[in-house]
Amino acid sequence: MEACVMLLLVFSVAAASPQRYTPDWESLDSRPLPGWFDAAKVGVFVHWGVFSVPAWGSEWFWWHWRGEQQPEYERFMQARFPPGTTYADLAPRFTARDFQPEAWAQLFQEAGARYVVLTTKHHEGFTNWGSPMSWNWNSVDTGPHRDLVGELGDALRKRNIHYGLYHSLYEWFHPLYLLDKNNGFKSQFFVSEKTMPELFDLVLRYKPDLIWSDGEWEAPDTYWNSTNFLAWLYNDSPVKDTVVVNDRWGINCSCHHGGYYNCQDKYKPGTLPSHKWEMCSSIDRRSWGYRSDMQISELMDETSIITELVQTVSYGGNYLLNIGPTKEGVIAPVFQERLLALGKWLSINGEAIYESKPWRVQKDNDSDSTWYTSKEAVVYAIFLTWPENNMLTLSSPVPSASTQVTMLGLSDPLKWQALPDKGLEVALPLTIPSLLPLQCGWSLKLVGVS
Ligand SMILES: *[C@@H]1O[C@H](CO)[C@@H](O)[C@H](O)[C@H]1NC(C)=O
Ligand SMILES: *[C@@H]1O[C@H](CO)[C@@H](O)[C@H](O)[C@H]1NC(C)=O
Ligand SMILES: *[C@@H]1O[C@H](CO)[C@@H](O)[C@H](O)[C@H]1NC(C)=O
Repeated sequence: MEACVMLLLVFSVAAASPQRYTPDWESLDSRPLPGWFDAAKVGVFVHWGVFSVPAWGSEWFWWHWRGEQQPEYERFMQARFPPGTTYADLAPRFTARDFQPEAWAQLFQEAGARYVVLTTKHHEGFTNWGSPMSWNWNSVDTGPHRDLVGELGDALRKRNIHYGLYHSLYEWFHPLYLLDKNNGFKSQFFVSEKTMPELFDLVLRYKPDLIWSDGEWEAPDTYWNSTNFLAWLYNDSPVKDTVVVNDRWGINCSCHHGGYYNCQDKYKPGTLPSHKWEMCSSIDRRSWGYRSDMQISELMDETSIITELVQTVSYGGNYLLNIGPTKEGVIAPVFQERLLALGKWLSINGEAIYESKPWRVQKDNDSDSTWYTSKEAVVYAIFLTWPENNMLTLSSPVPSASTQVTMLGLSDPLKWQALPDKGLEVALPLTIPSLLPLQCGWSLKLVGVS
């Protein structure tokens, strides 16, 4: 009888026609997120464009200069460029002369990134591929004279790194956008002539694993036609079964609709969110694009990067860490060093990160610096500061007679004892610091706890 019911169930699932999504949030939000994304956990974000030429202030340079007309930006332009230089005049200086996509891909792989997201077009509207809708304001007709989006994608795919395309819906100064805006977004000239054709072009050409949408906040999703695009993406596009998107598809969408949630930049939830999310952060705390005058004190150090990663993953998020290459396509050695430090940490502790799931408890009750992840019956306790007496208290796991504790990177099991009221106390290995696997953030693997 039971077998018969099972058979019927299997049959009805197999016979059901593939689900089609309708262009509304209720239907689109019901799509399960393709599994690769949650498993990947770690990505590198790359902000690259004409803003890498002035390399000053931030990637919002053009807006601060010509939109808000901040006087220091005008002074900067007068001091550094010939009189009358326009923003468009900067594009030929975006040479990408030293851009070696293979070397970038190798660096990102060594950083432990399972996916990479590149700005295909930021709010300035310059496209890093030969968009036919972005005549002479693209990387093939001017500047690099190269298909940056395609070249990086090819290099990443050779290494099985997933490829995400950042795309800004709005463009600060596009005449059709300004026209629609002036019409209170009742017309859609910009969407039908620029945004949508470019989004379709990106998907069909590059078959991305991820679309990182941005620049949505001035207009409703109905103006952007977002639900129609997503229904096509999920039903009929060449990446319908694998593609992942974020949540920036129109006013009030962020944190409510779409694929996974970004909510705000550098979002820190504080409790375990019920929906898959991603934290994007930037090594240069003051900018996403490259700044030639950045100071070391303005950069995240290894400890803060690992702290953010651990807290994010413990709360069920992915961590997308940003670097801004120079206009020549160089990734500054200080960014390389930070990425490689992350990769080295992950080479020991990746077992506690990749493919992990949030545990019953995220942060230990007795410590701000101990965080948990899990894989089925295994619990990982990642502690960010080494206790002075070498004894680590874990108040949340309940030990049993069969409990075993090891530190990732070391082979010998650690001694532990149950505490009278709760949890356990682990005797950390006594060794000189240089013999420890790493200098910040260590992972204990707990087997046989509940
Ligand atoms: C919005 O999407 C629908 C369905 O794909 C399409 O018919 C319509 O032309 C699109 N409108 C714009 C402005 O792109
Ligand atoms: C967005 O949400 C705010 C606050 O809930 C609301 O006042 C506003 O009308 C919403 N805007 C749109 C376009 O839905
Ligand atoms: C942790 O603390 C919270 C409240 O402070 C309490 O509800 C919970 O039971 C504690 N968990 C453990 C495992 O001690």
